[in-house]
Amino acid sequence: MQTRLTKTLGIQCPIISAPMGLVAGGKLAAAVSEAGGLGLIGGGYGDAEWLTREFSAAAGARVGCGFITWSLARKPHLLELVLANAPVGVMLSFGEIAPFAQRIKAAGAALICQVQTLALAREAVSNGADVIVAQGAEAGGHGLERSTFTLVPEIADYLAGAAPSTVLVAAGGIADGRGLAAAMMLGADGVLVGSRFWASAEALVPPAFHAAAITAEGDATIRTTVVDIARRFDWPQPFTARVLKTRFAMEWHGREKELAEPATNEREEARFWKAYRAGDVDNTCVFAGEAVGLIRDVAPAGEILRRMVREAEELLGNANGLER
Ligand SMILES: Cc1cc2nc3c(=O)[nH]c(=O)nc-3n(C[C@H](O)[C@H](O)[C@H](O)COP(=O)(O)O)c2cc1C
Repeated sequence: MQTRLTKTLGIQCPIISAPMGLVAGGKLAAAVSEAGGLGLIGGGYGDAEWLTREFSAAAGARVGCGFITWSLARKPHLLELVLANAPVGVMLSFGEIAPFAQRIKAAGAALICQVQTLALAREAVSNGADVIVAQGAEAGGHGLERSTFTLVPEIADYLAGAAPSTVLVAAGGIADGRGLAAAMMLGADGVLVGSRFWASAEALVPPAFHAAAITAEGDATIRTTVVDIARRFDWPQPFTARVLKTRFAMEWHGREKELAEPATNEREEARFWKAYRAGDVDNTCVFAGEAVGLIRDVAPAGEILRRMVREAEELLGNANGLER
């Protein structure tokens, strides 16, 4: 299944696994890459020890890495650690691209920028992005308000005029071959998939979280800031995160000011992490997208990828027709 994305990244099928912080380790990234896509290690907020361990868990597979950009700005040395592992690409999301763009490209890695608005797409183009990931609000984890269904074609139109060699990837709500085929029809050259690979055998996710997600419907998620206030992570506005409607999330959603009060915050932060480590879904938050309603099993990542490609090829009729 060749597209401009497969050519740009030197892969066989146009699927990237999302750099989910602490969830997408080296094993998941390697499994996706070995199946023909591109696996991204989830650099998240940035932890040198974790990154070193997970790059070695990828055991030399052709993988990339992604960072939460505003957090990388506080620990810029971590970019060198990642570049020393010769990543295929480095994805930046949620923050200023300019301080890192040239260094990434000079190291020979593809500069992949995840954006949530047209304004952010323009910023990515002006910083020389090789790949733009248009992320809709259906997505699990952090993001903004625009839906995938309008954001992707609008950015496709913009790129056709302003930066025709920039490759476009759709993200948010894509969990099966229907999503992959639809993304192509909207003008994307490929997809970036988070929640579906979160529900894979290789993802670093407690079994109880998986069990909660694969029985949940898409109605069971919400965009909120509760998860960041509870953890005392100072996310820049206006980003919110999509999580499962756990008891913890729903207890505090709408009462964010109260949650931020120091004594309450300290107590709830302790409750959050204790439950997170114990796999106690009720008393913590679980990142997941609306796509949970389309996910009914935890499967090996390679199998998930092959299913998506097979279904999309059937739907699109002739995969070669995708080549542009
Ligand atoms: C569990 C989880 C953790 C995530 N962590 C990150 C992250 O650390 N950095 C990032 O850029 N995006 C992160 N994302 C968002 C993904 O990059 C991607 O946009 C999203 O998963 C796509 O939507 P989907 O979940 O419907 O596939 C995360 C998503 C999930 C589900």
